[in-house]
Amino acid sequence: MSQEKTTISVIKADIGSLAGHHIVHPETLAAATKVLAEAKFKGLIIDFYVTNVGDDLQLIMTHKRGVDAPEIHELAWNAFKEAANVAKDLGLYAAGQDLLSEAFSGNVRGLGPGVAEMEFVERPSEPVVVFMADKTEPGAFNLPMYRIFADPFNTAGLVIDPKIHEGFKFEIFDVFENKAVLLSAPEESYDILALIGTPGRFIVRRVYRKPDNEIAAVVSVERLSLMAGRYVGKDDPVAVVRAQSGFPAVGEVLEPFAFPHLVAGWMRGSHHGPLMPVSQRHAKCTRFDGPPRVLALGFQVKNGKLVGPADLFDDVAFDESRRIAQQIADYMRRHGPFMPHRLGPEEMEYTTLPSVLEKLKGRFFVEKVYEVKKPKVTTSLLSGKEEGD
Ligand code: F6R
Ligand code: MG
Ligand code: MG
Repeated sequence: MSQEKTTISVIKADIGSLAGHHIVHPETLAAATKVLAEAKFKGLIIDFYVTNVGDDLQLIMTHKRGVDAPEIHELAWNAFKEAANVAKDLGLYAAGQDLLSEAFSGNVRGLGPGVAEMEFVERPSEPVVVFMADKTEPGAFNLPMYRIFADPFNTAGLVIDPKIHEGFKFEIFDVFENKAVLLSAPEESYDILALIGTPGRFIVRRVYRKPDNEIAAVVSVERLSLMAGRYVGKDDPVAVVRAQSGFPAVGEVLEPFAFPHLVAGWMRGSHHGPLMPVSQRHAKCTRFDGPPRVLALGFQVKNGKLVGPADLFDDVAFDESRRIAQQIADYMRRHGPFMPHRLGPEEMEYTTLPSVLEKLKGRFFVEKVYEVKKPKVTTSLLSGKEEGD
């Protein structure tokens, strides 16, 4: 086995979509594909796969240039720019919305696109799962990542496979403070959960296998709302997870998604809804602009080549999860404008609250408060003395 490392870079952006925010147009996929095909021909990347989930254009690329390589980020930026130009020509909705800057400056982080990249020495057989979600936020992967890498009720291998029995380390990123902490499972499980149970702030960014610090998973942590200082689009996340022989099995990696947990980001980025695991065919968001969806594509990485993909949620075994997700979607929808379907005021991407408060400020009135007199005399049970005035 060569010790040369392969990098897998998943970079995504919403550069405009067809008939609202629901699905990427095939011509924008084609424009991005052309840019990546040329880069592959020139040898900049080894291989690539272009796809979408909902209104997000996804570039899955392999190369030898490591994470955060300026030339790879520039390539992704150019692919998005070309796709955005097509989106503008076609009059697609919100064309170019995630490309926050006019000029590329070395790294797409902070410019708008979401990025999940990892570099590793390929095992003789290297299965990876690429997760891509729409109408949600990066913290949506917190619960599944915890279950995959720290919950023995999900991942049998944590108990019975000597290769992963020691557990994993979680790198948790605080998006408000822009700093990270590394915690070990199972020893620090409760601390991990204390943080990642607040998925709008603390995000599982990377997971490492404990004995050798081998990278196991990476999640995009870009939050467009924070980067732009205002809401400019959803920070729909992507993640890459390595599987099998020394990592959780593919079935253990997919298993948490059988439970359609509630995530933030549905309709106007301002509602909670169930995360529905779907096949590529159903990776489009129509019902109340959702519900939030996650697609899982499985690849084998061989000498940098992407063999596949396998559409992993395209399985009747996930039908029941989808049905439950629909029931939860109905249940949540019946709350209409009420929390907890609608997000709390500090998390909403759209709000009229300040203007409503401003408009009504002269109409708020204070109820006359009647003075309540304390009872005159009580006897303290402890001292036996009289109290009160
Ligand atoms: C959510 C999303 C959509 C839009 C909604 C309103 O991520 O993309 O739910 O927020 O369709 O869009 P605008 O404000 O563009 O009309
Ligand atoms: Mg969008
Ligand atoms: Mg989206």
